[in-house]
Amino acid sequence: MYEQVEKPKKNKSRAVTNSVTQTKNDVAQGYTLTDNRRKITISRNYGVIQRNIDAQLTNVTQVKALTNDVYYVEHQGGGIIIKFKGDLDSDAVADYALRVMGVPAPESKLVSADMLLERLPTENLGDTEQLRQKLNTRKGTEVLVAEMLVSVALGPTADEPSTDTHEQMDNPQFAFNLGKVAAHDTVLGHVDRILGGFNWGNMMGLTEESIQQIDNQVEDNAFLIPIVNLNDMFDSITGGLNDSSLGRTVAKRMGGMYDKVLDISSFEKGFLDGMTRFLQRKEKLMVALSEHESWWPSDILQDNANRLEEHLKTNGKYFAALQKVRMETFLKKEQDEADKQSARDKKQGKSSFFNFFSKKQ
Ligand SMILES: Nc1ncnc2c1ncn2[C@@H]1O[C@H](COP(=O)(O)OP(=O)(O)OP(=O)(O)O)[C@@H](O)[C@H]1O
Ligand SMILES: [Mg+2]
Repeated sequence: MYEQVEKPKKNKSRAVTNSVTQTKNDVAQGYTLTDNRRKITISRNYGVIQRNIDAQLTNVTQVKALTNDVYYVEHQGGGIIIKFKGDLDSDAVADYALRVMGVPAPESKLVSADMLLERLPTENLGDTEQLRQKLNTRKGTEVLVAEMLVSVALGPTADEPSTDTHEQMDNPQFAFNLGKVAAHDTVLGHVDRILGGFNWGNMMGLTEESIQQIDNQVEDNAFLIPIVNLNDMFDSITGGLNDSSLGRTVAKRMGGMYDKVLDISSFEKGFLDGMTRFLQRKEKLMVALSEHESWWPSDILQDNANRLEEHLKTNGKYFAALQKVRMETFLKKEQDEADKQSARDKKQGKSSFFNFFSKKQ
């Protein structure tokens, strides 16, 4: 269904104009455009943990091609990923935006291919020569350098989930986490993970808490919002007769491809949770992005965020769904507390009973 939707063509023209203006300003101030872009990894007060990625390639110990276009390099500054394919500036902005929202995504930045070439050692440390050839094809441009995440992708290829992922598919917590990812992707306008079909290679780390999102992209989300159908989702959570259309579509796809049953209700609640996180962090996101307006596609993402906020902030269906889930969570917590207390009482009662006898003897 989603695959049939034609995505609007990207409009880089504004970005080009902006970056030209920016280059002029930067030159006037004695900076280069590259320096400006690097600012994106400098620590800021957005509550985002920013570890500057070290791309100096000092004392390289290993070079490994993970795919044709993704390389792993181990050096003194840690493990890094060098990526060649795709909209790399979009990737870096999306990674950054997700981290501002508190969503796990790698730190990344654009780095000059020439600089990396200069620093790449001559010894053969695995796939060094392959990487050198690749960097040679990108001379004069920038490539993406990201932190190497210490987890595994949810699948070796887009369509193919790992055995662990397959096992988790009918787990409500996994469905909840997928729902959160779907919400974050609605902010980004990103379809190559869940919304347009599964891409397990773009998700990492199978934990209870969340899924790390990699290979992130920003697209205009105007075409996506009606497809995701927010109100349908909120109605379903509030107690509508039908599951949401997005929940049904994802579940159908999962059933058809992997013979697994998605817990649609948990997926929808995860989606609500992701949307709420977005709304809570929206202002923070706007401030962070406004500092990088010249940085394509920062402007598209700002429009996305405003558009989505419009759909949520005065939406009674959204608040009704939120209230219902919060009430359920509250009641469950109360019940858990009551259960714990009665277990404690029981234990105490039992021990005083034993005490009574032991004292008598
Ligand atoms: N930051 C990272 N940390 C650890 N592994 C990574 C990281 N980035 C990429 N990888 C590994 O490399 C694989 C491919 O990465 P990525 O999806 O970014 O590239 P891609 O070439 O765009 O892939 P595709 O176009 O097929 O989706 C991932 O599935 C993952 O296994
Ligand atoms: Mg990918």
